[in-house]
Amino acid sequence: MNIPSASGPELVNLLALPSVSKLYEAVTTKRRSLPMSKGPEGLGFTKRLLEELVFAVELSLSRECSIFPVKRALKKVALKLFSEEENDILVLIQAIRKKLARTDKRVTIMDYGAGKPDLYLSQDAMKLGRKVEINIGRASRTSSTSEKCGRFLFALLREVKSNECLELGAGFGISGLYLLGALELNNRGRLHTLEGSELLLNIARRNFQGFGINRVVTVLGNFCNTLTDTLSKVESVDFTFVDGHHDEHATKVYFSKIFPKTRAGGIIVFDDINWSEGMVRAWKSIKNAPGVAFSFDFHQFGLVIKRGRNQGDIPGRHFKSGGLLFLFG
Ligand SMILES: C[S@@+](CC[C@H](N)C(=O)[O-])C[C@H]1O[C@@H](n2cnc3c(N)ncnc32)[C@H](O)[C@@H]1O
Repeated sequence: MNIPSASGPELVNLLALPSVSKLYEAVTTKRRSLPMSKGPEGLGFTKRLLEELVFAVELSLSRECSIFPVKRALKKVALKLFSEEENDILVLIQAIRKKLARTDKRVTIMDYGAGKPDLYLSQDAMKLGRKVEINIGRASRTSSTSEKCGRFLFALLREVKSNECLELGAGFGISGLYLLGALELNNRGRLHTLEGSELLLNIARRNFQGFGINRVVTVLGNFCNTLTDTLSKVESVDFTFVDGHHDEHATKVYFSKIFPKTRAGGIIVFDDINWSEGMVRAWKSIKNAPGVAFSFDFHQFGLVIKRGRNQGDIPGRHFKSGGLLFLFG
C-alpha cells in the first residue's frame, strides 16, 4: 500500500480515528486484556491489529465525500461525541434492552431464518419455517444488536438524514430503536421493519411505543413474501439494515432486490458477515457487485455505499477493519 506521509492536520485526524485512539487507550492503561482472535477464519490478534491500523490510515487519508458520514459516525461512537439529546435516547434504549434481558419467560416462536451456521437448512425448510422455543431474556441478549453497533447505526443515520429506511429482522426491536431514535431527532424519515415472528414483532411494537412509533411501519411475514411488496410501496430506499436470515443464497437474493431500489449514494448494512462460510461468500459477492462504490468490512458487519450519480464507472473501493473497535466495550 502506498501511504502518503501524514503531517499536521492529517496526523491529528489520524489520531482522532476511533480504532487508533481506542487501541492506544487499551494498550496504555492495561485496563482490559487484549482481545483474542475471533471469527471463523481464525485471524490472529496481531493480524487484526495491523488491519485496524491500515484501515485507520486509509480512512483518514481518503477525501471521498461519500464516506464522510461513515467516518464521522465512527468518530462519534469511539470518542463519545453524542449531544445531550442524543445521549438521552441512547440511555432510554439501554434501559429497554436491560429490561428485556431480565425477562425470564419461555415462549415458542416461528423462525424462518437459517438457525445455526452448521444447520444447513434447505431453502424449502426456511420458507416453511420452524417452531422454536426460546427464553426471551437469553434470546434478546444473544440476538439483539450490540450497544456499540447500535450506537454506530444511530450515529450513521443522524449523519445521512434518510427518508425511507428498511430493516430485515425486527427481532425484539432493539436495532429498530436506534434507527427510530435517529429519525426522530432528524425530524424526518420512516422505518419499514420486517419480521417473521408475530410474538417478537409484538414485543418490538411495544418497545417502539413512545419512541417514534409514528415513523415505523411493521410488516409481519417471511421476507420472501414481504420484501418485494414493501419495496413496491416506496420510490427508493436510502438506508437498509439486513439483520435476519443469515443464509448465503437468501442474503444474495435480498441484496439483488434491495440494491436496485437503493438511491444513488444510499447505504446497505449487513450484519453477521462472518457468521458462516456461506455468509463470508455472500458478503464477498455483494461488496464486489457492479454499482457498489465503497465497502467497509467491520468484521462483525459490512456496509456498502451505492455509486453516486456523478461517480461514473469508478471501480469499487474496499476498506477492511480488523473489527477491534467493536470488540472494545
Ligand atoms: C438477529 S434477529 C434481529 C435482531 C434485531 N435486528 C435487533 O438487533 O434487535 C433476526 C430476526 O430475523 C427474523 N427472521 C429471520 N429470517 C427471517 C425470514 N426469512 N423472514 C422473516 N423474518 C426472519 C427472526 O425471526 C429474528 O427475529
